[in-house]
Amino acid sequence: MRKNELERFNYGQRVVHWVVALSFLLLMFTGLAFSYPSLTWINTLLGGGAAARVIHPWAGIVFSVGLVFMFFMWVKSMFLNKGDREWLAAIKAYARHDRERIPPAGKYNGGQKIFFWLQILLGIFLLLSGIPLWFPEVYGSGLLVTMRFLHFVLALGAGLFLIIHVYLGTIAYPGTLGAMLWGSVTRGWARLHHPLWYKEKAGH
Ligand code: HEM
Repeated sequence: MRKNELERFNYGQRVVHWVVALSFLLLMFTGLAFSYPSLTWINTLLGGGAAARVIHPWAGIVFSVGLVFMFFMWVKSMFLNKGDREWLAAIKAYARHDRERIPPAGKYNGGQKIFFWLQILLGIFLLLSGIPLWFPEVYGSGLLVTMRFLHFVLALGAGLFLIIHVYLGTIAYPGTLGAMLWGSVTRGWARLHHPLWYKEKAGH
Protein backbone atom coordinates (compact mmCIF):
# COMPACT_ATOMS: atom_id res chain seq x y z
CA MET A 1 0.00 0.00 0.00
CA ARG A 2 1.37 3.44 -0.94
CA LYS A 3 1.82 6.27 1.57
CA ASN A 4 -1.25 8.27 0.52
CA GLU A 5 -3.54 5.23 0.59
CA LEU A 6 -5.90 3.68 3.14
CA GLU A 7 -6.82 0.02 3.53
CA ARG A 8 -10.47 -0.55 2.58
CA PHE A 9 -10.80 -4.36 2.33
CA ASN A 10 -8.47 -7.01 3.73
CA TYR A 11 -7.41 -10.11 1.80
CA GLY A 12 -10.13 -12.37 3.23
CA GLN A 13 -12.88 -9.89 2.39
CA ARG A 14 -11.62 -9.60 -1.18
CA VAL A 15 -11.41 -13.38 -1.64
CA VAL A 16 -14.99 -13.83 -0.39
CA HIS A 17 -16.22 -11.00 -2.62
CA TRP A 18 -14.59 -12.42 -5.75
CA VAL A 19 -15.78 -15.99 -5.06
CA VAL A 20 -19.32 -14.59 -4.83
CA ALA A 21 -18.84 -12.37 -7.90
CA LEU A 22 -17.29 -15.02 -10.16
CA SER A 23 -19.76 -17.74 -9.19
CA PHE A 24 -22.57 -15.24 -9.77
CA LEU A 25 -21.28 -14.44 -13.27
CA LEU A 26 -21.04 -18.15 -14.08
CA LEU A 27 -24.62 -18.60 -12.85
CA MET A 28 -25.86 -15.64 -14.84
CA PHE A 29 -24.27 -16.70 -18.12
CA THR A 30 -25.24 -20.39 -17.89
CA GLY A 31 -28.73 -19.34 -16.76
CA LEU A 32 -29.13 -16.94 -19.69
CA ALA A 33 -28.05 -19.72 -22.05
CA PHE A 34 -30.74 -22.05 -20.59
CA SER A 35 -33.36 -19.37 -21.11
CA TYR A 36 -32.54 -18.02 -24.57
CA PRO A 37 -31.82 -20.40 -27.49
CA SER A 38 -29.77 -17.69 -29.23
CA LEU A 39 -27.33 -17.81 -26.29
CA THR A 40 -26.79 -21.59 -26.10
CA TRP A 41 -23.30 -21.01 -27.53
CA ILE A 42 -22.29 -19.83 -24.03
CA ASN A 43 -22.92 -23.29 -22.64
CA THR A 44 -21.22 -24.88 -25.65
CA LEU A 45 -18.07 -23.05 -24.51
CA LEU A 46 -18.44 -24.73 -21.11
CA GLY A 47 -18.65 -28.23 -22.57
CA GLY A 48 -22.26 -28.31 -23.79
CA GLY A 49 -25.76 -28.14 -22.29
CA ALA A 50 -25.37 -31.31 -20.19
CA ALA A 51 -22.15 -30.01 -18.57
CA ALA A 52 -23.78 -26.62 -17.95
CA ARG A 53 -26.66 -28.32 -16.15
CA VAL A 54 -24.16 -29.80 -13.72
CA ILE A 55 -22.00 -26.65 -13.45
CA HIS A 56 -24.95 -24.28 -12.79
CA PRO A 57 -26.31 -25.82 -9.54
CA TRP A 58 -22.81 -26.41 -8.15
CA ALA A 59 -21.89 -22.80 -8.93
CA GLY A 60 -25.10 -21.98 -7.04
CA ILE A 61 -23.76 -23.86 -4.01
CA VAL A 62 -20.42 -21.99 -4.18
CA PHE A 63 -22.34 -18.69 -4.53
CA SER A 64 -24.63 -19.52 -1.56
CA VAL A 65 -21.72 -20.52 0.71
CA GLY A 66 -19.84 -17.37 -0.36
CA LEU A 67 -22.91 -15.30 0.40
CA VAL A 68 -23.12 -16.77 3.92
CA PHE A 69 -19.50 -15.68 4.51
CA MET A 70 -20.27 -12.27 2.98
CA PHE A 71 -23.29 -11.89 5.25
CA PHE A 72 -21.37 -12.54 8.49
CA MET A 73 -18.39 -10.54 7.31
CA TRP A 74 -20.36 -7.35 6.60
CA VAL A 75 -23.70 -7.53 8.40
CA LYS A 76 -22.52 -5.44 11.38
CA SER A 77 -21.65 -2.52 9.09
CA MET A 78 -24.81 -2.72 6.98
CA PHE A 79 -27.58 -1.55 9.31
CA LEU A 80 -29.06 1.75 8.16
CA ASN A 81 -28.53 4.70 10.52
CA LYS A 82 -29.96 8.22 10.49
CA GLY A 83 -27.15 9.50 8.26
CA ASP A 84 -27.85 6.71 5.74
CA ARG A 85 -31.53 7.61 5.60
CA GLU A 86 -30.55 11.23 4.86
CA TRP A 87 -28.17 9.96 2.19
CA LEU A 88 -30.95 7.87 0.62
CA ALA A 89 -33.32 10.84 0.69
CA ALA A 90 -30.73 12.74 -1.37
CA ILE A 91 -30.09 9.90 -3.83
CA LYS A 92 -31.07 12.09 -6.78
CA ALA A 93 -28.23 14.48 -5.89
CA TYR A 94 -25.88 11.45 -5.82
CA ALA A 95 -27.09 10.37 -9.28
CA ARG A 96 -26.48 13.90 -10.59
CA HIS A 97 -23.03 14.09 -8.91
CA ASP A 98 -24.33 17.21 -7.12
CA ARG A 99 -21.71 16.96 -4.35
CA GLU A 100 -22.90 19.90 -2.27
CA ARG A 101 -26.20 18.15 -1.56
CA ILE A 102 -24.93 14.63 -0.82
CA PRO A 103 -24.88 13.99 2.96
CA PRO A 104 -21.51 12.58 4.11
CA ALA A 105 -21.31 8.77 3.99
CA GLY A 106 -19.54 6.38 6.35
CA LYS A 107 -17.64 3.31 5.10
CA TYR A 108 -20.72 2.33 3.06
CA ASN A 109 -23.37 4.73 1.82
CA GLY A 110 -27.11 4.02 2.14
CA GLY A 111 -27.26 2.67 -1.42
CA GLN A 112 -24.47 0.15 -0.80
CA LYS A 113 -26.22 -1.04 2.35
CA ILE A 114 -29.52 -1.53 0.50
CA PHE A 115 -27.63 -3.39 -2.25
CA PHE A 116 -26.13 -5.71 0.37
CA TRP A 117 -29.54 -6.59 1.85
CA LEU A 118 -31.16 -7.03 -1.55
CA GLN A 119 -28.44 -9.41 -2.77
CA ILE A 120 -28.66 -11.44 0.44
CA LEU A 121 -32.45 -11.75 0.14
CA LEU A 122 -32.31 -12.51 -3.58
CA GLY A 123 -29.57 -15.09 -2.91
CA ILE A 124 -31.74 -16.89 -0.33
CA PHE A 125 -34.77 -17.02 -2.63
CA LEU A 126 -32.68 -17.99 -5.66
CA LEU A 127 -31.35 -20.95 -3.67
CA LEU A 128 -34.80 -21.95 -2.39
CA SER A 129 -36.36 -21.76 -5.85
CA GLY A 130 -33.34 -23.45 -7.47
CA ILE A 131 -33.32 -26.62 -5.35
CA PRO A 132 -36.58 -28.07 -6.77
CA LEU A 133 -35.27 -27.35 -10.29
CA TRP A 134 -32.12 -29.34 -9.48
CA PHE A 135 -34.17 -32.40 -8.51
CA PRO A 136 -37.20 -32.20 -10.82
CA GLU A 137 -38.10 -35.90 -10.36
CA VAL A 138 -38.82 -35.29 -6.68
CA TYR A 139 -41.27 -32.40 -7.16
CA GLY A 140 -44.63 -32.07 -8.94
CA SER A 141 -44.83 -30.29 -12.29
CA GLY A 142 -47.06 -27.50 -10.89
CA LEU A 143 -44.43 -26.53 -8.32
CA LEU A 144 -41.67 -26.74 -10.93
CA VAL A 145 -43.44 -24.29 -13.26
CA THR A 146 -43.90 -21.80 -10.39
CA MET A 147 -40.29 -22.20 -9.20
CA ARG A 148 -38.91 -21.85 -12.71
CA PHE A 149 -40.78 -18.56 -13.14
CA LEU A 150 -39.74 -17.30 -9.70
CA HIS A 151 -36.10 -18.32 -10.26
CA PHE A 152 -36.07 -16.45 -13.58
CA VAL A 153 -37.60 -13.24 -12.16
CA LEU A 154 -35.26 -13.25 -9.12
CA ALA A 155 -32.24 -13.83 -11.34
CA LEU A 156 -33.31 -10.96 -13.58
CA GLY A 157 -33.55 -8.68 -10.52
CA ALA A 158 -30.15 -9.78 -9.17
CA GLY A 159 -28.62 -9.30 -12.65
CA LEU A 160 -30.00 -5.76 -12.93
CA PHE A 161 -28.69 -4.79 -9.49
CA LEU A 162 -25.32 -6.27 -10.42
CA ILE A 163 -25.11 -4.14 -13.57
CA ILE A 164 -25.72 -1.01 -11.44
CA HIS A 165 -23.18 -2.25 -8.83
CA VAL A 166 -20.48 -2.88 -11.44
CA TYR A 167 -21.18 0.44 -13.17
CA LEU A 168 -20.87 2.38 -9.89
CA GLY A 169 -17.76 0.46 -8.83
CA THR A 170 -15.93 1.04 -12.14
CA ILE A 171 -16.99 3.67 -14.68
CA ALA A 172 -19.05 6.01 -12.47
CA TYR A 173 -16.51 6.28 -9.64
CA PRO A 174 -12.94 5.69 -10.82
CA GLY A 175 -10.60 4.52 -8.06
CA THR A 176 -13.23 2.24 -6.51
CA LEU A 177 -12.30 -1.03 -8.22
CA GLY A 178 -8.80 -0.87 -6.70
CA ALA A 179 -10.44 -1.27 -3.27
CA MET A 180 -11.63 -4.73 -4.28
CA LEU A 181 -8.54 -5.66 -6.33
CA TRP A 182 -5.63 -4.74 -4.08
CA GLY A 183 -7.52 -3.57 -1.00
CA SER A 184 -6.68 0.11 -0.85
CA VAL A 185 -7.99 3.50 -1.99
CA THR A 186 -6.36 6.92 -2.11
CA ARG A 187 -7.02 9.37 0.72
CA GLY A 188 -8.59 11.72 -1.85
CA TRP A 189 -11.07 9.03 -2.91
CA ALA A 190 -11.98 8.32 0.71
CA ARG A 191 -12.45 12.00 1.57
CA LEU A 192 -14.61 12.55 -1.51
CA HIS A 193 -16.89 9.50 -1.37
CA HIS A 194 -16.88 8.36 2.27
CA PRO A 195 -15.90 11.44 4.34
CA LEU A 196 -17.07 10.04 7.71
CA TRP A 197 -15.05 6.86 7.17
CA TYR A 198 -12.07 8.97 6.11
CA LYS A 199 -12.26 10.97 9.36
CA GLU A 200 -12.41 7.75 11.36
CA LYS A 201 -9.46 6.17 9.53
CA ALA A 202 -7.23 9.21 9.18
CA GLY A 203 -8.11 10.59 12.61
CA HIS A 204 -8.85 14.13 11.38
C1 HEM B 1 -17.97 -8.79 -11.56
C2 HEM B 1 -18.69 -8.24 -10.75
C3 HEM B 1 -18.38 -7.32 -9.61
C4 HEM B 1 -17.58 -6.21 -9.53
C5 HEM B 1 -16.71 -5.60 -10.62
C6 HEM B 1 -17.70 -5.70 -8.18
C7 HEM B 1 -17.03 -4.60 -7.68
C8 HEM B 1 -17.09 -4.15 -6.37
C9 HEM B 1 -16.33 -3.06 -5.81
C10 HEM B 1 -15.34 -2.22 -6.58
C11 HEM B 1 -16.66 -2.92 -4.50
C12 HEM B 1 -16.08 -1.92 -3.49
C13 HEM B 1 -16.97 -0.71 -3.32
C14 HEM B 1 -16.42 0.25 -2.31
O1 HEM B 1 -15.28 0.14 -1.90
O2 HEM B 1 -17.15 1.19 -1.91
C15 HEM B 1 -17.65 -3.94 -4.21
C16 HEM B 1 -18.28 -4.11 -3.00
C17 HEM B 1 -19.29 -4.99 -2.75
N1 HEM B 1 -19.75 -5.96 -3.63
FE1 HEM B 1 -19.16 -6.23 -5.53
N2 HEM B 1 -18.58 -6.48 -7.50
C18 HEM B 1 -19.04 -7.48 -8.32
C19 HEM B 1 -19.93 -8.48 -8.02
C20 HEM B 1 -20.64 -8.58 -6.84
C21 HEM B 1 -21.68 -9.55 -6.56
C22 HEM B 1 -22.16 -10.62 -7.52
C23 HEM B 1 -22.13 -9.30 -5.29
C24 HEM B 1 -23.20 -9.98 -4.50
C25 HEM B 1 -24.10 -10.76 -4.97
C26 HEM B 1 -21.36 -8.19 -4.78
C27 HEM B 1 -21.52 -7.66 -3.53
C28 HEM B 1 -20.79 -6.61 -3.01
C29 HEM B 1 -21.03 -6.04 -1.70
C30 HEM B 1 -22.13 -6.49 -0.72
C31 HEM B 1 -20.09 -5.04 -1.55
C32 HEM B 1 -19.93 -4.12 -0.31
C33 HEM B 1 -20.96 -3.02 -0.37
C34 HEM B 1 -20.89 -2.24 -1.65
O3 HEM B 1 -19.84 -1.68 -1.95
O4 HEM B 1 -21.90 -2.22 -2.37
N3 HEM B 1 -20.47 -7.77 -5.73
N4 HEM B 1 -17.89 -4.67 -5.37
